[in-house]
Amino acid sequence: AQTLLSGGMAERNRARLLVLYGSQTGTAQDLAHTLRRRAQSLNLQAAAYALDDLDAEMLPALARSASAVVWIVATAGAGEAPSNMQRGWKALRRRRLAADLFEGCRMAVLGLGDTTYEKFNAAARRLGRRLEQLGAAALEGVARLTLANEQAAEGVYGTFEGWAKDVLRVVAARHATPEMTEEELQQSARQEALSLSLAFAGAGAESDVGGFYEKPYGDLTPFGNEPALGTVAVNRRITADDWIQETRHIEIALPPGNWDFHGGDVAVVFPENSAEIVRRFGQLLLDSAGFPPEVETREKRLAMVISVAESDAQTAPPEWPTMKMQLPRCCSLADFAKRFLDLAGTPTRSFFERLWPWAENEDEKDKLKELASPEGYDLLLDYCIRERRSHLDVLEEFRSVRPPLMALLKLVPTIIPREFSLAGGAPCSADVNSAHLCVGVVRQKTPYGRTHVGLCSGYLASSPPGSSVRLFIRASQMRLPELANGSLHDRSPAHVPPLLCVGPGTGIAPMRALLRERLAMVEKFQEGDGTESPFAKKHFALIFGCRKRTMDFYYQEEWADVLEKHSSWFYMPEPAFSRDTERKVYVTDRILEHSTRQLIWEFLGLRRGSLYISGTSKGMPQDVAASVKQVAIDTGGMSAEEATAWLKRLEKEGRYIVEAW
Ligand SMILES: Cc1cc2nc3c(=O)[nH]c(=O)nc-3n(C[C@H](O)[C@H](O)[C@H](O)COP(=O)(O)OP(=O)(O)OC[C@H]3O[C@@H](n4cnc5c(N)ncnc54)[C@H](O)[C@@H]3O)c2cc1C
Ligand SMILES: Cc1cc2nc3c(=O)[nH]c(=O)nc-3n(C[C@H](O)[C@H](O)[C@H](O)COP(=O)(O)O)c2cc1C
Repeated sequence: AQTLLSGGMAERNRARLLVLYGSQTGTAQDLAHTLRRRAQSLNLQAAAYALDDLDAEMLPALARSASAVVWIVATAGAGEAPSNMQRGWKALRRRRLAADLFEGCRMAVLGLGDTTYEKFNAAARRLGRRLEQLGAAALEGVARLTLANEQAAEGVYGTFEGWAKDVLRVVAARHATPEMTEEELQQSARQEALSLSLAFAGAGAESDVGGFYEKPYGDLTPFGNEPALGTVAVNRRITADDWIQETRHIEIALPPGNWDFHGGDVAVVFPENSAEIVRRFGQLLLDSAGFPPEVETREKRLAMVISVAESDAQTAPPEWPTMKMQLPRCCSLADFAKRFLDLAGTPTRSFFERLWPWAENEDEKDKLKELASPEGYDLLLDYCIRERRSHLDVLEEFRSVRPPLMALLKLVPTIIPREFSLAGGAPCSADVNSAHLCVGVVRQKTPYGRTHVGLCSGYLASSPPGSSVRLFIRASQMRLPELANGSLHDRSPAHVPPLLCVGPGTGIAPMRALLRERLAMVEKFQEGDGTESPFAKKHFALIFGCRKRTMDFYYQEEWADVLEKHSSWFYMPEPAFSRDTERKVYVTDRILEHSTRQLIWEFLGLRRGSLYISGTSKGMPQDVAASVKQVAIDTGGMSAEEATAWLKRLEKEGRYIVEAW
């Protein structure tokens, strides 16, 4: 029988590099495949998998059959593991695992993180510790744990380059592998891009996009691996027309289904490219070889329905699992361009690494090679990253790069969905079967005066009522406190635990959803049998901040209404308007004001309440936490050390939750 260790003698002598990754927004995935390709260009056998693409039970045997196992792991959320490694990570944490599970395996971990988040590289650190406990040895010459930081001069890429070089030097040296020549490199890169096999299906062929959505995107969506097809019901600007920032309130009606989500949960939205992007892609197809002669116009080419299968051209050990592709199996090229290819996304270095082998013109090839090299980082920064040039822009600009269709579909990465905290819509509130979003539209001027509009926020902003939106919904920890661990019904507390919400800017979204859910509960209770209300005491405080009262004070009338009708349990101080007065006022200032301070201490210190913080600024949650600590010191009489320990305890008990993006 074939085992993971079987294979011919020659094959067995080739080093085998196993690359495992956990990635939320695609960077770790991109780097994992970059490392895999570079290993293959050194004639090593290599494969890269998201941890959850593998069966957890087979991991130890797979790891033992590799010469080296390297992990590239991002940190998501507030110090959490990315969603495509959570299942595997849970399995690795099991207490009863043998302490020698990975004995004999050589491993190294590269963490991707950002020091502006409180828990820098938390997921990689935890993983590194656990692998050591399970007996993994270090890969000699490479640190067990290397931490890359988005804030470093070259982002995470600088650290990756040095680390990858070390890994490949060590792995290749153990097995003396000759490096490929430039022609061989070009050949191997082309072959990899051609590992898709395409067939033109008839015009009437049914589309099958299965495979594309097979990821743990949203556990609360009642349609298995399929996203919900929602319909935009409301799309309204909620910043003043003459204000620089456009923010929109969007309500998406959800299709009927067994929905069970709550305020605080998160929508995972799949954006679509604009008709203009699709048209430009169609133009590119006119230069693509391989179409039947009668399919000669842009429209006809875009209308072609193709079926896609991946033939495994990669040089992984044959007994290792095949790497999953994440492409639809059958759809029109127009749909490919609209829904699946990240044509408007900004390329990373690896795009150029894969692109240069297709350049026919030597000058273009040289420029692409420079963009692909670590030395060309400044050029990449100027030409691409700062300018937000897109994959499509680059393909249009480099006219000698005209790979055949199947390579084109593989070269452009696929669209990654964007998350939005629900701003309302939980089934138990009045907003039955709908998802409310509060979307800040990303619009920025680049150094050369181009305008970049964010893919998903731009897509949502320009989706009028009646248009369709594909989305999943996933659970969040940020639920009403009594729902976070079991339901109110089960526990019937005399009084619900208090909640302090701090949500400046679009960070107001989850707070609005939580408040709407609470309002629905209060109203339901009022219709009840007259027993004392668990909501009678003051228990819900909302602290909001924005720039100007007349410009971006979101949902102003709603708060006024709740304050008027429910002042017995709801508290909202004057928002912090940072640009209305000479001295800038922020939410942290509001927290420290006398009356608010008293209430915060009562909520969090005396009544075991919860603190939820949400918003766009990565530094804001830390500032808010510092102010709350100050309250514990000034009002609660704690020492600085006690206040720090107290906040840590709150966090451990699930009473201090941050959602920052
Ligand atoms: C838990 C959570 C809740 C959020 N809630 C809200 C909310 O309530 N309201 C709100 O306005 N925003 C919210 N966001 C931010 C939102 O997800 C988007 O980042 C934001 O709308 C900008 O996305 P965009 O596509 O418009 O912009 P883009 O410029 O296209 O992308 C913005 C960011 O996405 C990443 N990115 C860019 N291209 C890609 C790509 N090809 N693949 C993967 N990632 C890429 C980059 O980090 C980039 O900075 C939340 C984010 C998270 C994680
Ligand atoms: C919503 C969000 C939360 C994040 N949380 C953390 C964090 O808690 N700690 C950290 O070090 N980095 C954090 N990061 C930074 C990412 O880990 C970093 O950008 C990484 O390169 C992303 O890799 P990925 O694209 O593979 O997910 C966060 C990034 C985002 C967008």
